[in-house]
Amino acid sequence: MTFAKLRRDFLAFFEKRGHKIVPSSSLMPTDPSVLFTSAGMQQFKPYYLGEKSPYGLNVATCQKCFRTSDIEEVGDESHLTFLEMLGNFSFGGYFKKEAIKLAFELVNSTFQIPKSKMTITVFGGDKEVPEDKESAEIWKKLGIPEEKIKKCGREDNFWGPTGEEGPCGPTTEIHINGIEVWNLVFNEFYQNKNKKLTPLEQKGVDTGMGLERLAMVAQNKPSVFETDLFEPFIRELPETNIKARRIIADHIRGSVFLISEGILPSNVEQGYILRRILRRTIRYGKLLNLVKQFLIPLAQRVIEIYKDIYPELKSKEADILTVIQNEEEKFEKTLEIGIKQFGKVALRGAISGKDAFHLFDTYGFPLELTQELAKEKGIKVDTEGFKAAFEKHREISRAGVEKKFGGVGKGATIEAAKLHTATHLLHAALREVLGEHVQQMGSDITSQRLRFDFSHPVKMTQEQVKKVEDLVNQKIREDLEVKKEETDYQTAVKSGALAFFKDKYPGKVTVYSIRGFSKEICAGPHAKKTGELSHFRIIKEESSGSGVRRIRAILK
Ligand code: GLY
Repeated sequence: MTFAKLRRDFLAFFEKRGHKIVPSSSLMPTDPSVLFTSAGMQQFKPYYLGEKSPYGLNVATCQKCFRTSDIEEVGDESHLTFLEMLGNFSFGGYFKKEAIKLAFELVNSTFQIPKSKMTITVFGGDKEVPEDKESAEIWKKLGIPEEKIKKCGREDNFWGPTGEEGPCGPTTEIHINGIEVWNLVFNEFYQNKNKKLTPLEQKGVDTGMGLERLAMVAQNKPSVFETDLFEPFIRELPETNIKARRIIADHIRGSVFLISEGILPSNVEQGYILRRILRRTIRYGKLLNLVKQFLIPLAQRVIEIYKDIYPELKSKEADILTVIQNEEEKFEKTLEIGIKQFGKVALRGAISGKDAFHLFDTYGFPLELTQELAKEKGIKVDTEGFKAAFEKHREISRAGVEKKFGGVGKGATIEAAKLHTATHLLHAALREVLGEHVQQMGSDITSQRLRFDFSHPVKMTQEQVKKVEDLVNQKIREDLEVKKEETDYQTAVKSGALAFFKDKYPGKVTVYSIRGFSKEICAGPHAKKTGELSHFRIIKEESSGSGVRRIRAILK
């Protein structure tokens, strides 16, 4: 059965059984606490919480998903970044019995996968949530022998919420030939930001089955990459390194879909993920000795495969190819410098873990590429040392991610405080360089960068950007104290403090001032002295609506 037929049959099956077929939502979610849509239920979150669904109680979709958590896993038989998720959902229409029966009928009768190939997992219970005996009973009644129904814990059989909070609950999974194929979630709880569970008034069903994995088992293939979804373009790649081949195939597909959503390679957020997978693809292309510009024909194949279901790929083909080509050209230059750097460290006779990591972190060389180059020169790479350096780095960036998603990583909090202070310096510098008409229109800080929106009618010139940058760095070098005081709003404004939300400050306010340069009402936190900021760099100046400019900047 082709993947196109599997997709069609899935939707037809549920449509016939009273489900409204809803189109896939965008890969860019409305929930700001997640970067991408990673599950089918995301667009339906409110309907699990009592809001009336405009589609009725039962729906089904084929949803575009992107999972950053799986980037490092890609290369095995079944993990992917981009995937199409088939799912049926019920917001109080039906629950366990119906959901399991429907899933079983579809897999067993429509897709003709015999019971003997299936194993089932159910939630085994823990301190907070009882064992799901009901699901196990339902499976038994459908003819699945008890020994093929496994009880698992939270890690495996409890799903959600996506983002900071939302519906979640125990799951039952269908595994076929040992591969997890379909996840049935019984949304019984609401988990708040503090991870506290409260029972939902109305119980719901949320299921997710990756089309690629379904194709893999339905077509009896050893990996998703051998299905008819990947075969037409993966066969263009040499078979010398299976992992590299799979990474390229997955990442080019993911890149095409991300770009079709208007995402461009950048150093932050969704753009950063796109840049990362595109560059990774190019690096692995090197490993396979592919010619320059190899990505373009691959991207064209991807568009061909999907254009009927996702016509936006075809209509945006020219843009997609241009973005890929530009990024490839840009990265080629970094790679060349990296190869020179490799040549230098290779003169020492071996590549230390630190050097290997430096090549990875600064020049984007995966360990495999360094190893490959080292092999050609007949020298060794300290892979253990590389892993140690990598782990250390990961801990630091994990703290950053926690901050972004509401966690309290200590390093990240400190970084955010510095970026707050940098924002004040930037604001003051903009007013000095461009004029007093500059007003803050918005600001956003992650652990990695600051973003500042301000009123200004035209694009800043390069000289102006440089002047602002220099002025901020001058204030950093002066290592000025960031003074904090509490006062009432009127006094603060009279003393010249800038306020962003004009009328939202009741009672006492906190004013942060940097001698002779900046004074702003702000909740903080801030650095103690400007010297802590080290170095300030503007990454981008762009339009953010009419009369509003946006600056992205980092500290290094
Ligand atoms: N929402 C269920 C899943 O993505 O597995």
